Amino acid sequence: MSIGWNDLPSPSQRWWGVPELAAMRRDYLAFIGKQQRLGDIVRLRILNECTVDLFDPELIRAAMVDHADALIRWERGPAVFAQLMGQSVLVTEGATWQRQRRMLMQAFTPKKVAGYAELMLRATDEGLAAVQAGEVAMAPLFSHLAMDVILRTLFTAPAAPHTQKLADAVQLLSDQALRAMFWPASLPDWLPLPGKAAKRRAHRLMHDLIQRHIDDRAGRPQTSDDLLGMLLALRDSDTLQGLSAREVYDQCMVSFTAGHETSATALTWWSALLAGHPDAQQRARAEVDAVLGGRAPGPEDLAALPYLSATLKEAMRLYPPIAALMTRRTTREIVLGDARLPARTMIRITPWLLHRDPRWWPSEPEAFRPERFLADAPDAILRGAYIPFGLGPRVCLGQHFAVLEMSLIAVRMLQRFHLHPVGALPLPRLAVTLRPADGVVLRLQARDSK
Ligand code: HEM
Repeated sequence: MSIGWNDLPSPSQRWWGVPELAAMRRDYLAFIGKQQRLGDIVRLRILNECTVDLFDPELIRAAMVDHADALIRWERGPAVFAQLMGQSVLVTEGATWQRQRRMLMQAFTPKKVAGYAELMLRATDEGLAAVQAGEVAMAPLFSHLAMDVILRTLFTAPAAPHTQKLADAVQLLSDQALRAMFWPASLPDWLPLPGKAAKRRAHRLMHDLIQRHIDDRAGRPQTSDDLLGMLLALRDSDTLQGLSAREVYDQCMVSFTAGHETSATALTWWSALLAGHPDAQQRARAEVDAVLGGRAPGPEDLAALPYLSATLKEAMRLYPPIAALMTRRTTREIVLGDARLPARTMIRITPWLLHRDPRWWPSEPEAFRPERFLADAPDAILRGAYIPFGLGPRVCLGQHFAVLEMSLIAVRMLQRFHLHPVGALPLPRLAVTLRPADGVVLRLQARDSK
């Protein structure tokens, strides 16, 4: 027998959910953690919204995969992101999203992505050549590397000299985006309100960068096989139409924004975890040395580096870059397990909790144990329990890109440096991505020095 939304477990609520909304704004992960104690599908009323949190991989798969056709993004997410990224594949729905996704997927297949490896390596090697041994702040380093990787793969151009300004702009916009999620509407950016001027400046910096590269390309023959060249050459298999100029701009912006902060965050946590786990670091480096012996890695080498890849997967299990606020709205009634959710229910999924739940991760869920991702691991990983790139038809478009990029950077780091911790592992702080609250400083020791 099925039950309705009203019969689901819920915390006791007053004032139409206003205190809960305030608690979410204060500490989102802690608030949702409390929800989890009440069950695997927990309801919450927020103002006039019926919402649920899902904590069980089977229920999550049922929603995001089986009932994908009855879900759209929760409108507040696209409303916030569309201010920056226009009508890109990240925010569109229905036929427009299907057309954009179908076209863009051609530029992000594993084979196409492998073609960017050389550009990725060039960015990595030039970036790392400038790094001196000693104490190094890892978040800005990886942010610079990942930004250089995405700019080179998008435009075959090295990162602008002012990458720190750009990184600060992205950080500012993503901090503001998270806060904006908890307001019912966004106030126009031209209003003279605190924070709006800084936001306009950050937006302009990113706009100028992307537009300058697109303008530079105008009128030139399509000889370039970078991502922009590919976007300009894409044709819809049904209509043979290309992307509009606005769509090309929006897709560049979304690739730039979604495509570097996530990878940089994952690598920052990875480096901190390896520094804190010298045995795992030593094992990953021994594997890299045995397979590559100091030469540059290529996409074809990754299959021979299962332990290195396991360290990256484990870092994204413990610290998923998109740790929370994977949100959807139902467009019709759907049944999840024995619960009937009416049309317009808002669904929240929280990888941060899913990835650390002892029911799906029976051996030491809080510990860094890359072995759990090796082929001979004793515990199989439940489908739907590990979702750093999301799941269902809206799974991350840049997944293969990110895995290749992170693996190449990780290999080059281990070939050059020993990573030593300076202080304890920082606490996480949720922006749009899950960042280390006080950054990560490591002592990098060059491999050929003692
Ligand atoms: C470690 C790196 C990355 C992580 C963890 C990550 C994670 C995610 C997740 C969880 C989603 C789905 C969100 C949802 O279902 O609501 C997503 C979507 C997306 N990602 Fe990534 N991402 C990464 C790198 C990238 C890169 C490098 C690109 C592009 C170059 C990219 C482009 C996108 C796009 C366009 C979407 C929207 C897809 C759609 O709605 O159809 N991501 N990403």
